[in-house]
Amino acid sequence: MLQFSIDEEKCIQCGECAADCPRSIIELEPEYPRIVPGKEDNCIQCQHCLAICPTEALSILGVDPDKCPSLDAIPSPDQMEALVRGRRSTRRYKQENVDPDTVNWLMDMLAHAPTGVNNRRLLFTLVDDVKTMDTIRKEAFEGIRAKVQSEGLPERYAVFEQFLAVWDKGMDVPFRGAPHMLIVSSPDDSPCPEADPYIALSYFELCAAAKGLGTVWCGLGKYALFDIVPELGSKLGVPEDHKSVYVMLFGNPDLEYHRGVQRENTAVNRVKM
Ligand SMILES: Cc1cc2nc3c(=O)[nH]c(=O)nc-3n(C[C@H](O)[C@H](O)[C@H](O)COP(=O)(O)O)c2cc1C
Repeated sequence: MLQFSIDEEKCIQCGECAADCPRSIIELEPEYPRIVPGKEDNCIQCQHCLAICPTEALSILGVDPDKCPSLDAIPSPDQMEALVRGRRSTRRYKQENVDPDTVNWLMDMLAHAPTGVNNRRLLFTLVDDVKTMDTIRKEAFEGIRAKVQSEGLPERYAVFEQFLAVWDKGMDVPFRGAPHMLIVSSPDDSPCPEADPYIALSYFELCAAAKGLGTVWCGLGKYALFDIVPELGSKLGVPEDHKSVYVMLFGNPDLEYHRGVQRENTAVNRVKM
């Protein structure tokens, strides 16, 4: 049920809602905008029609345009540059929980990351409890040890034997001693299963940086949880058919960076035809 409705007192019949609909299923017939009869199922629920209406006349999915966020506070290019250039991968964390309000805000932000065809079937598996994270890292290393002692590790993951030796001396390389972890996974049959988790985590990373949190993409954790000890990944609740999965660690940083770094794009393939 799309609950598409028009406040005829406010609608100026500008046609912007119809022009912006990515599925072209809004028509200005007979007088005011409506979903073309029979086309409701084509709606991808992006809410562009509501966002573009200049007079708050259009509502869809029960959303009140009056209560939608204003666009006045968009960061300036300088602020965006500071965020993008100032973000760093963090590998030293305080052993404490992040403030729950901050975590909840970050999780809310994930709903605004774009997904292919606005397909919103990503699963966000969240570990926001430092003790639970400790249990997971211990179980991961026990699982790695069991694999090493039974069949041995595939060549590709041979380095985890070194990580195990270092773990026995008290250092956690794969999970960087982080207190929290976010795993984003996508069902294989969604339109863009490969891209969607990466995009969501990129949004999360920048929003976390804006809140002063540290994050680090965790390829090593993905290998540990989903390739070497997949039973642990399943135990965390990531469904078996979610083959597209990635891991990010986060928490309050136990360090401070004092400047950004300098980098250049090394390969720009600028095309003119
Ligand atoms: C897909 C991906 C996987 C990564 N996996 C790990 C990882 O397992 N462990 C780690 O310490 N850093 C990991 N990183 C962080 C990179 O090493 C880091 O982004 C790079 O060194 C540049 O540093 P910066 O993020 O501070 O700019 C990963 C980054 C990406 C994008």
